[in-house]
Amino acid sequence: MRSLTILLLASTALATSAAADDLRDYATDMFQPLPSTIPAVADNPVTDEKIELGKMLFFDPRVSLSGVFSCYSCHNLTTGGDDNLETSVGHGWQKGPRNAPTVLNAVLNEAQFWDGRAEDLKAQAKGPVQAGVEMANTPENVEVMLNSMPQYVSLFETAFPGEDAPTNFDNMAKAIEAFEATLLTPAPFDSWLNGDDTALTAKAREGLGLFLDLGCVSCHSGVNVGGHGYYPFGLIEKPGADVLPEGDKGRFAVTETVDDEYVFRAAPLRNVSLTAPYFHSGKVWDLKVAVQIMAESQLGEELSDEDATSIVAFLDSLTGEMPEITLPVLPAETADTPRPKQ
Ligand code: HEM
Ligand code: HEM
Repeated sequence: MRSLTILLLASTALATSAAADDLRDYATDMFQPLPSTIPAVADNPVTDEKIELGKMLFFDPRVSLSGVFSCYSCHNLTTGGDDNLETSVGHGWQKGPRNAPTVLNAVLNEAQFWDGRAEDLKAQAKGPVQAGVEMANTPENVEVMLNSMPQYVSLFETAFPGEDAPTNFDNMAKAIEAFEATLLTPAPFDSWLNGDDTALTAKAREGLGLFLDLGCVSCHSGVNVGGHGYYPFGLIEKPGADVLPEGDKGRFAVTETVDDEYVFRAAPLRNVSLTAPYFHSGKVWDLKVAVQIMAESQLGEELSDEDATSIVAFLDSLTGEMPEITLPVLPAETADTPRPKQ
């Protein structure tokens, strides 16, 4: 009797580990673990000097016309790389039209913004600086500001050696891109993909199984569990205007193609547990509710509370270790530095 029990236990253990291997095989076909080194970015070799300069620029509110808003205002690296507001507040306390996505791991997205309108981070960084509702500045004014501080001039010269007049707007964007490329957050899910069975709880593995079987993975796959590919929000059933406001037609504004009305980039899901509220509208504060809305709108599935909870447990396993960042000391302004304007 005792040996039968041992045999049964042994075969259950074998079946469980076979199931774990099956799940990992399926998962490794669909996702990739985070790279362990800083990824290369196009046309912008990432160097230590650029990273240091980019960090300063990321934290510097003088990049904005008012001297109030830095990238960090809306992409707070202590709260998941976003601002946890429905939609961001920028220049003159104006409320912008969309929720701020996280900058963490953004370097691994195929394109930037909810509608993918910027092809990479250096193109992206020029947007908020000039957006009227964000930093409301001009490239010319930013260049005057940077050139007014000898320490910035010297840091740009070191980061972009051999260039004539390197203290310019394009190089500001390149330095910020280099800094952002360092913002990677390895998570328990990566350890599990890399072979550590103990890294995911049973609940998280159950959630991962559902995420794969239901078809969430058909849009949220790859290294960022999303961040590439464009799909109608409401592929099967369009959510109400309380979640999907009619005025924002997503990718339609980029391509002006009718088929792209209400089409958005599949959101990257790393650290999603830290970045409420959800969707481009920022209208949903509870991740479980966001998961249920996705299941219904994208897959036509009504998820039970229990299944949605398991999926949330899987999404929790995407919360990573935050990069360690020492606050930069920024260059002192001079008599030539443009005064803040409201
Ligand atoms: C989007 C970086 C300033 C609010 C993004 C994205 C990045 C980023 C990388 C795209 C992320 C993704 O698509 O997953 C930066 C940098 C800034 C900056 C480097 C400084 C130069 C700001 C400021 C605000 C803000 C000051 C708020 C006033 C937003 C919003 C979006 C966004 C609302 C989404 C916009 C859309 O999709 O149309 N930012 N950001 N950002 N950021 Fe920033
Ligand atoms: C957004 C999860 C299925 C496409 C999101 C968000 C979550 C999520 C949590 C919000 C992320 C954020 O605000 O930062 C899921 C789950 C799914 C699923 C658990 C399966 C039950 C799908 C499918 C598609 C898709 C099948 C494509 C057909 C999108 C798009 C967005 C998004 C386009 C951005 C929506 C927006 O504009 O606000 N997903 N998703 N998702 N997902 Fe899914």
